[in-house]
Amino acid sequence: MNFELTREQKLTRQMIREFVNKEIKPLAAEIDKTEKFPLETIDKMRKSGIKGMSYPTEYGGSGSDYITYVLAVEEISKACASTACVYAVNTGLVASILLKFGTEQQKKKYVPELLNKGNKIGAFALTEPNAGSDASAQQTTAVDKGDYYLLNGTKTFITNAEYADTFIVMAMTDKSKGVKGISAFIVEKDMEGFEIGKIEEKCGVRASSTGELILSNVKVPKENLLGNLGEGFKIAMTGLDGGRISIAAQGLGLAEAALHEAIEYTKKRKQFGKPISMNQGIQWEIAECATKIEAARGLVYKAAWLKQEGFPFSKEAAMAKLYATELAMEVANKALQMHGGYGYIKEYPIERIFRDAKITSIYEGTSEIQKIVIARQILK
Ligand code: CAA
Repeated sequence: MNFELTREQKLTRQMIREFVNKEIKPLAAEIDKTEKFPLETIDKMRKSGIKGMSYPTEYGGSGSDYITYVLAVEEISKACASTACVYAVNTGLVASILLKFGTEQQKKKYVPELLNKGNKIGAFALTEPNAGSDASAQQTTAVDKGDYYLLNGTKTFITNAEYADTFIVMAMTDKSKGVKGISAFIVEKDMEGFEIGKIEEKCGVRASSTGELILSNVKVPKENLLGNLGEGFKIAMTGLDGGRISIAAQGLGLAEAALHEAIEYTKKRKQFGKPISMNQGIQWEIAECATKIEAARGLVYKAAWLKQEGFPFSKEAAMAKLYATELAMEVANKALQMHGGYGYIKEYPIERIFRDAKITSIYEGTSEIQKIVIARQILK
């Protein structure tokens, strides 16, 4: 057993840290306020090779391993959870699904531009107004019209909606078959009848765009069917298994950021004649948070390692997401409390970290869904 990162992973993490401190961290507070994601960041991530982390160079990737990608999500999340959200959905979810289930032609056409060869962004469209946690209750339909499929329906809460070029859309091709009647399609933003609807104003990860997709008689060419007919639910679930490791890494990064802010603040803040970090009440909280962060790191890296090495990882991904994202909120809450009134104003980063942390235990499957996934695998 080896708990050390490799020399290459450490060096790449150092490069990512420098990139994050220069290009991402300085913008975090401002883009949270304006709710506008700076697309130049995507171009910079591409040029530095971060956009294509964990993918082969043949498809526009950086040739790095999956753990390095997870380190990138963690580092970016420490500075700006919105940027991590855009990145994780594009690189960790959409590109991964396309590479795993796409035909050679689909992979060549779509993947490189989502990675280091272009500035395109991907989105994953599963959720609907009536299909949230119950993802199988898809109402969007896709009807076979010979040369093309005709897609109709509405997707909601879709990350990257406003900025994405390539969408993986789940739709019902045969209602009578239930889950096995769901298929996956690659939809391009310029296809006729495809529109972006309402963009949500959110509590956290405000610079990442979350919106509605409206599909009105969208003609999707036959060659844009992803995987086999009826395989859409499996494709979505397989993709989310990996996506959940990304969100776990986001939770880990946010928890680390919150603890960092708490340490910085409590060492400086003097009350009753001494820094408040000298109080045992604060010390015990800091010790507990630091210990739980180490536990979360173990779960996140283990799940990433299992995926990287080709072992089953669905249960471990769900465990990592459950623990790390609940922890993000716990540490953010405690860190904000340690700041007192200063934690509640926008002058200190903990206010944003606290708001950003909340979403991690909701998207890509709520904590309750993670418990279902874990329990089913334990009890089966
Ligand atoms: N991998 C492969 N196949 C899987 C799978 C997995 N992880 N999980 C389920 N399946 C297969 C099952 O094997 C089954 O097929 P068979 O009958 O052939 O065995 C089929 O899918 C149906 O499985 P279930 O009976 O388990 O399905 P269910 O309806 O009970 O749902 C669920 C299971 C885990 C609750 C699922 O609905 C779920 O994950 N819900 C949460 C949805 C979610 O995470 N949404 C996030 C939206 S995306 C997002 O947030 C991204 C973003 O933009 C940030």
